[in-house]
Amino acid sequence: MTVQEMKNEIIRLKKENDICILAHAYQSHDIFEVADFIGDSYGLSEKAASAKEKTILMCGVRFMAETVKILSPEKTVLLSHTDAGCPMAEQMDKELILQLKEKYPGYTVAAYINTTAELKTVCDVCVTSSSAVKIIRNIENDNILFIPDCNLGEWVADTIPEKNIKLFNGGCPTHLRISPADVKRARAAHPDAIVLVHPECRPEVTKMADFAGSTTEIMDYAVKSEHKEFIIGTENSIVEHLQYSCPDKLFFALSKDCVCHNMRLTTLGDVYNAVSGRVREEISLDAETIKLAKHPIDEMHRLGSM
Ligand code: 13P
Ligand code: SF4
Repeated sequence: MTVQEMKNEIIRLKKENDICILAHAYQSHDIFEVADFIGDSYGLSEKAASAKEKTILMCGVRFMAETVKILSPEKTVLLSHTDAGCPMAEQMDKELILQLKEKYPGYTVAAYINTTAELKTVCDVCVTSSSAVKIIRNIENDNILFIPDCNLGEWVADTIPEKNIKLFNGGCPTHLRISPADVKRARAAHPDAIVLVHPECRPEVTKMADFAGSTTEIMDYAVKSEHKEFIIGTENSIVEHLQYSCPDKLFFALSKDCVCHNMRLTTLGDVYNAVSGRVREEISLDAETIKLAKHPIDEMHRLGSM
């Protein structure tokens, strides 16, 4: 079977089997071509809630598939690859959050969406990188515990100094690999380029950038910008996607090491195996977890639409 034949089969099978394919922006271009919706964590969470199909295949990592299941418990939710987890999502556990709540009574616990379903059961509101500033600003309480990503948290805290935001020691191991020296090196190599980074990068890197935003915000910025050259400080798949979207512009990776092995696990073959029903990693969550974990996600959508 050629790559194109496999894509055609996936498109035929997903319709035949009533499957909606969601792809996170860090997936490969081949997967984009068979997906029904491509987006960042916030976009995918909204799409998950409104998809008509009975089965959703999430091409991304486990917390994203769990989010789909929480929002659509009646649907069959499949994860594209069994081993695709997010190390940041598993950095904290429920007991730690309960201890923090005891230590900081009266604080609102804001959890980055990159957390397990279990962790969400003890949190008050979720945020994504594209919605964090708006949602934290709209929270009625000024005292916030922000978990687990201290880099995203610091970026939000700098943007909204009027809120009292406590940060903890978590973060994305992929974005942490980008250093200020990478920014200096990339700017010296491409003096006409502007630097776009994800706020999961270390604060000293984000402060050196021209723009910080979620994966889709970075892509939108580059597509709409009149600049011709860009240095991209997020998972390196975005460099490739942007080159397809804007063949007349030039894109460079800020660091060759900004590669998320978990996001890269899913292949077109995995998607083919999932839609043909031969290999299935179905997400199953108990009713109590779904009920409790839905609350912070619903709060995210409420505060995000204000
Ligand atoms: P966004 O999709 O919200 O930009 O998050 C990036 C990321 O690291 C997802 O795992
Ligand atoms: Fe998790 Fe970072 Fe990979 Fe996103 S890029 S899935 S936050 S490890």
